[in-house]
Amino acid sequence: MTDDFGRAGWERRWTQVLEADAPAADRRVPNPSLLAEAAHLPAGVALDAGAGHGSEALWLAARGWRVTAVDFSATALAHARTRAERAGVDVAGRIDWVEGDLGDWTPPPAAFDLVTCLYVHVAGSVTAMVRRLAGGVAPGGRLLLVGRPGAVGQTQLTVDDALEALDEEWEILVAEDRGADAVVRARRRL
Ligand SMILES: C[S@@+](CC[C@H](N)C(=O)[O-])C[C@H]1O[C@@H](n2cnc3c(N)ncnc32)[C@H](O)[C@@H]1O
Repeated sequence: MTDDFGRAGWERRWTQVLEADAPAADRRVPNPSLLAEAAHLPAGVALDAGAGHGSEALWLAARGWRVTAVDFSATALAHARTRAERAGVDVAGRIDWVEGDLGDWTPPPAAFDLVTCLYVHVAGSVTAMVRRLAGGVAPGGRLLLVGRPGAVGQTQLTVDDALEALDEEWEILVAEDRGADAVVRARRRL
């Protein structure tokens, strides 16, 4: 069975979206949960897992964060990189664009002050993905996960998946369903 939301599916989707109306993708505003989480944090080192159009990575970089932006769509990454270059050297120079599948991609351990992962689909275990991403958060750092569990044809984050992955090392700040979205914010204890 083909996975419509696997790498090839997303590659097709991004090619169509960008060919149809790339400026519309560029106008995508950063996710409100990220704004709420990061607006008050001092700039540090962030991982945006499933960066897509790049709006979140650009927003963080414009605020002084050093960002690693991961996505498995080469087309999305190329487009987002171009957006960053248009935003100027300060922004572009703070973002590393990495092609990787979050079904197995593992961040360097304890390397990030903020790890965010918004609306990705994984073919394998979501709990295992959360564990991998959580391993990338430095002590005192933050994790922000948002998924849409009801997304048709996709396996996205649920609150239960996240809570299963986060042990007593974590202070859970938010773990709730907000409309169609599962939102989890957590802080790794020092
Ligand atoms: C719905 S878009 C979300 C983009 C952005 N994070 C946002 O909140 O608007 C999902 C993005 O995650 C990427 N993606 C989905 N599953 C992924 C996976 N398993 N590994 C890497 N990237 C993935 C897709 O290519 C796409 O760019």
